[in-house]
Amino acid sequence: MLAARDTVGTALTWIFYCLAQNPNIVSIMRNELSPIASHKVVAGVGTMVIFEPAETKSLAYVRAVLYETLRLYPPAPTELKTVVADDTMPSGHEVHAGDAIFISLRSMGRMEGIWGKDCLDYNPDRWLSKDRNSLRYVPSHKFLAFNSGPRMCLGKDIAVMQMMTVVASTLWNFDVHLLEGQSIEPKASCILEMKNGLMVKLKKRDV
Ligand code: HEM
Repeated sequence: MLAARDTVGTALTWIFYCLAQNPNIVSIMRNELSPIASHKVVAGVGTMVIFEPAETKSLAYVRAVLYETLRLYPPAPTELKTVVADDTMPSGHEVHAGDAIFISLRSMGRMEGIWGKDCLDYNPDRWLSKDRNSLRYVPSHKFLAFNSGPRMCLGKDIAVMQMMTVVASTLWNFDVHLLEGQSIEPKASCILEMKNGLMVKLKKRDV
């Protein structure tokens, strides 16, 4: 439940929080969804359009939005590794058997040395190739939200598929507005939940 449910639920909360503040990004996502939605048979007035996994799989911009959110708000914000044998890291740091190495994925996602001067900006474009039709290659040791190496997340594809369909279907059918007066802050926990939750108002779109 922790691996599969809380991570996806937490990621979705931060995604809707980021998108509610970036209506221009929501418009670009809706433009990407529009050709798919126009081919779907809507059962009647007021019926919602639901996007299937096969339809959202190749959507580069929607995926870039997910990755950009996971960069700034990784649901599993820390990694702890224990050194098995004395060694010297590629950086030159000596480590000794039994040492604990604590990696803050949340900090890594916000470091200028890794992501550039706009590291704190919410900018899905950074994930896109020049023609904007696909994602550029980003190694997993740079984008650690799903971990890297032999203990990488086994559910990454399922998680991305779930989030793409939920985000696409929600944004296509609803405008998401943040309720005023709430305090948004992360909870210090093994999962980067929102401490006070997220309160939004959904308004059905006329599509
Ligand atoms: C946004 C969603 C998710 C994120 C960010 C995420 C992230 C991660 C991370 C960082 C790890 C490495 C943990 C560690 O060893 O320290 C991990 C492991 C794992 N994840 Fe996920 N995960 C997500 C969703 C899922 C889903 C949906 C599933 C299952 C359907 C899943 C199954 C697993 C499993 C089984 C492992 C253990 C892999 C191993 O140790 O060999 N995860 N995940």
